[in-house]
Amino acid sequence: METIEFEHPVARSLLTKLRERSTPPDEFRKIAYRLGFMLAVEATRNLGTLPLTVETPMENTLGEECAEYPMLLPVMRAGLGLLAPFMELLPESPVAFIAMKRDEKTGKADWLYDSIANIQGRDLIILDPMLATAGTARSVIDYVLAKGAESITMVSIVASPEGIYRLRDYDNLTFITVSVDRELDENWFILPGLGDFGDRLYKGK
Ligand code: PRP
Ligand code: URA
Repeated sequence: METIEFEHPVARSLLTKLRERSTPPDEFRKIAYRLGFMLAVEATRNLGTLPLTVETPMENTLGEECAEYPMLLPVMRAGLGLLAPFMELLPESPVAFIAMKRDEKTGKADWLYDSIANIQGRDLIILDPMLATAGTARSVIDYVLAKGAESITMVSIVASPEGIYRLRDYDNLTFITVSVDRELDENWFILPGLGDFGDRLYKGK
């Protein structure tokens, strides 16, 4: 696995606002969108392109067009908070969904639903803002690899060192995060973290 800690002052400042417990749900969603857009730019840095000649008002010039559109796979619920900015940057990308739920007593993730059809040979971008024990991430990655995914970029906002360690053996995985936080607490929540991302997006006041 290649781990990329996305270093950018605007991203750090947006993450600080997400962490703040008094940030209300509407603002939390907007900030997640803005940070998601920055992560979408980073996650697509190495997309392949093909040459394309265009005519400017002045002359012909050689440019490029994207040759491939990775499939987007948000992990519900929290991953839905990153989907809109990725679709904004990659409107041609297909989108599939997967829902997983962590048991808050055991920390173990259970599969609930997916809409993944044929992904043989496809490049995927998995969206899940939180990596804690990596139980969820490992289940999703194993599932899509078994279905024939070619390469995986996983995008998160906050990750634990324990979670990153548990992903280390995947060869064709690039893991992007804004912050590697300090540790997990006894309930498998990330410290300092930002709390429950899904609740902060969808629970309301
Ligand atoms: C959260 C988060 C990740 C998972 C991370 O989801 O969005 O999917 O926990 O924890 P892990 O690395 O220990 O597996 P949760 O299962 O709470 O569901 P939600 O998205 O509906 O909030
Ligand atoms: N999921 C979250 O939303 N937050 C955590 O800290 C851990 C898992």
